[in-house]
Amino acid sequence: MDVSVGSSTADNTAAAEGQAFVWQRKHLLGLRELSAEELNHIFDTAESFKEVSQRSVKKAPPLRGKVVVNLFFEDSTRTRSSFSLAASRLSADVLDFTVKASSVSKGETLLDTARNLEAMGIDIIVIRHSAGGAPYMLSQSIDACVVNAGDGYHEHPTQGLLDIFTIRELRGSLKGLKVAIVGDIAHSRVARSNIWGLTTLGAEVFLVGPPTLMPSAVNQLPVTVCHNFDEIVGEMDVLNMLRVQFERIGSPMFPSVREYSRLFGLTEERMTRAKKDVLVMHPGPINRGLEIESEVADGPNSTILRQVTNGLAVRMAVLFLVNQAAAME
Ligand code: CP
Repeated sequence: MDVSVGSSTADNTAAAEGQAFVWQRKHLLGLRELSAEELNHIFDTAESFKEVSQRSVKKAPPLRGKVVVNLFFEDSTRTRSSFSLAASRLSADVLDFTVKASSVSKGETLLDTARNLEAMGIDIIVIRHSAGGAPYMLSQSIDACVVNAGDGYHEHPTQGLLDIFTIRELRGSLKGLKVAIVGDIAHSRVARSNIWGLTTLGAEVFLVGPPTLMPSAVNQLPVTVCHNFDEIVGEMDVLNMLRVQFERIGSPMFPSVREYSRLFGLTEERMTRAKKDVLVMHPGPINRGLEIESEVADGPNSTILRQVTNGLAVRMAVLFLVNQAAAME
């Protein structure tokens, strides 16, 4: 393979100082455990992979002969397609395992499912599951690399990575940036991965939303909590608007959709009080007119589709790095 892929300015600087960085994790389970050096190594690797998607033949060889399985127990548009494309662009064989049409419906356990897939010679399992900790459990029980594509309310590390990569691309550095994560924090694995990654890289994180949509141990997180969006909107460099996850909310957590939108929605009117160059982010899928107005989601400050584009390069980097770590074992 092209040895320049995966090397970076950061690596070269480290190498010049006699401390070449070597990625050693064969699983990506969350961002909480990653150092700033590891996060930047993923971003530098992703940067080098962006070029592959500009080629007329969008392929690079690093995962040739490897098999990547997408094992999604929850629905997905972006993450699943992005991992499939990322694996294909690295020349891996890709198995999109459809849980609804599998023997899981006959009662087969997650572990038996994974072990049977592993018996067919797979190298990387990308898993989304409603239970927090399911990717960790798999990583302890099988030999293949495990990549978390979202587990319960716990983490969605590649979403956090692509969000932070997008901010880094547009602002150069995370240090000192003020980032508001707004909305349904309680049910959001995206929020958790963002909090860990952003604070490790020196950003200041504000969680904004009604008390009913804050996680129970919010005071143990390295964040500032705010229940009045208008108080802080003008100071923020980034507004990351979260989807209200109605499918995970048992009983109503706010009086009405109109009330939620008025207090916590990113409206055109509220944008007039934001910084002119504020980055407006959303992980998708969007509830248009609830957490964000269409005019803002599709407006000049929006990075929503850039996030999706960057997700491909970030996931190529993650698949490449975990495979590299496995090869060193
Ligand atoms: N952002 C995200 O995880 O989207 P999907 O659920 O469509 O994968």
